[in-house]
Amino acid sequence: APTPPSPSAAALLADAEAYARAELGGDTSGHDWWHVQRVADMARRLAAEEGADAFLCVLAALLHDVADEKLNPSKEAGMAKVASWLEARELAPGDREHVLEIIGTMSYNGGANPPMRTPEGRVVQDADRLDAIGAIAVARTFAYAGHVGHPIHDPGLPPRDRLVLTAEEYRKDKSTAINHFHEKLLKLKDRLNTPAAKRIAEQRHDFMLGYLEQFRLEWDGER
Ligand code: ADP
Ligand code: NI
Repeated sequence: APTPPSPSAAALLADAEAYARAELGGDTSGHDWWHVQRVADMARRLAAEEGADAFLCVLAALLHDVADEKLNPSKEAGMAKVASWLEARELAPGDREHVLEIIGTMSYNGGANPPMRTPEGRVVQDADRLDAIGAIAVARTFAYAGHVGHPIHDPGLPPRDRLVLTAEEYRKDKSTAINHFHEKLLKLKDRLNTPAAKRIAEQRHDFMLGYLEQFRLEWDGER
């Protein structure tokens, strides 16, 4: 399928950006507009390295959290919202379905989702995951924990094996910000798709390990 000519592609991306900004601008749960902007920028960077379609990667990245089930009555309601936004716009045949497929299947889901089908899906999923690894991810994790009323740390609540919990159980289950590193964030490095993302993740992952070690030393009065 032909990619739309660049003026209309650029206009559509600007339109998607305005939409995501309006939907997510005020969010304080870790899904704010700046997260989306970072994911879109990273998607463009990874697309170039991986030879994926940059237009589709950036479009899916801009829309990915508008549909997030944490910000909508349900995942279906979020997806329907993005679908109708896309319906109202002119896209090359198949692009609408492709974008919806990406944002509907990219979430972590305890590591249980099947691999992404297309290069563009692999790129956008990696871009989102990279924003959950590193210094900004540390900030997002504590912000999210505060948002849902979880403590920073509680030695009486040891980390669970995230993989034995369903998404539903996990949402209802109390955890802590520190546990989230062990339950999810430290696993992300080995669940990336593209060589470019794996390379970027190395240093960010090591930073989180160093952060957790410093946290533990301070907690135990050793530093
Ligand atoms: P995504 O952007 O991939 O949709 P999530 O919705 O899972 O990511 O989470 C958004 C941010 O909040 C991420 O940085 C993530 O690490 C953090 N987060 C998600 N769940 C928890 C949790 N239970 N405790 C602390 N932080 C969390
Ligand atoms: Ni996201």
